[in-house]
Amino acid sequence: MNALGPTLSVKGLTKVYGRRPTLLRRNPHRLTAVDHVDFDVAAGETLGLVGESGAGKSTVGRLVLRLIEADEGSINLLGTDIAELSRMGLRRMRSHATMIFQDPYTSLDPRMLIKDSVAEPLIVHTDDSRATRYEKAFELLQRVGLDPAHMERFPYEMSGGQLQRVAIARALITDPSFIVCDEPVAALDVSTQAQVINLLNELQQERGISYLFISHDLRLVRLIADEVAVMRHGRLLEIGSAEKVFTDPEDAYTRELLAAIPGRSPRQRRFTAASFT
Ligand SMILES: Nc1ncnc2c1ncn2[C@@H]1O[C@H](COP(=O)(O)OP(=O)(O)OP(=O)(O)O)[C@@H](O)[C@H]1O
Ligand SMILES: [Mg+2]
Repeated sequence: MNALGPTLSVKGLTKVYGRRPTLLRRNPHRLTAVDHVDFDVAAGETLGLVGESGAGKSTVGRLVLRLIEADEGSINLLGTDIAELSRMGLRRMRSHATMIFQDPYTSLDPRMLIKDSVAEPLIVHTDDSRATRYEKAFELLQRVGLDPAHMERFPYEMSGGQLQRVAIARALITDPSFIVCDEPVAALDVSTQAQVINLLNELQQERGISYLFISHDLRLVRLIADEVAVMRHGRLLEIGSAEKVFTDPEDAYTRELLAAIPGRSPRQRRFTAASFT
């Protein structure tokens, strides 16, 4: 693993859906969802990936973990060209690079106890005994702000905010260096959103994790991102430090997105946690 370079480096990343020809010879649903995208995620930092619905954000998130295959471009994750990884290598990579999804109700198995959902990645990635697995799950659940009684519950017995904490604990249990957070708080109410964002920030400080934080909500991105990339119709329009993109955006579309944030006057140049809630 390369400790010096960026955690993730993406060049010319392209994904075309509907590449398979249909009876019409040319598939009318063919769509370049991600179009020659370049970006890096620096070690221990957060890149916020923003843009409207359908921009290709989730597709980028899936591509960089090779949950789906790219059509073009290169992805270097933790010093490894992931296109070169064997099935086993990819499996190993999945303990270092994980994902948190938008909806914890669908990302967690409804039939599994919370403790089993959180501990499960350890079965795949370690030789830990059952007792050790539960011990780690227990510690992590406490760390994300849940209490021991929650271990023995099923997902339907938890609130959305609690469940998203469970999903975070599950993503963290193998001690990853990189996490793709795809709209991780979109399903939560505003005050719970702020709490979960704070938790992600704290965990980053403690563990030096890098995040690719995907969101259409610029207020949230402002609370977590060091760098911001703006995406539209599969292309990256702009990328830069959060400070720069939020206060002095280059692209007209970025300015449009910023202007659309409710309660933000054009003159109000800075966001604070207070202005968010
Ligand atoms: N499996 C698929 N097959 C065909 N087209 C797809 C597939 N997944 C996504 N798309 C299309 O690719 C485009 C980008 O989708 P993607 O889910 O990456 O957008 P997004 O930016 O994450 O949007 P949202 O903010 O709504 O989550 C969309 O037009 C979508 O319809
Ligand atoms: Mg999405």
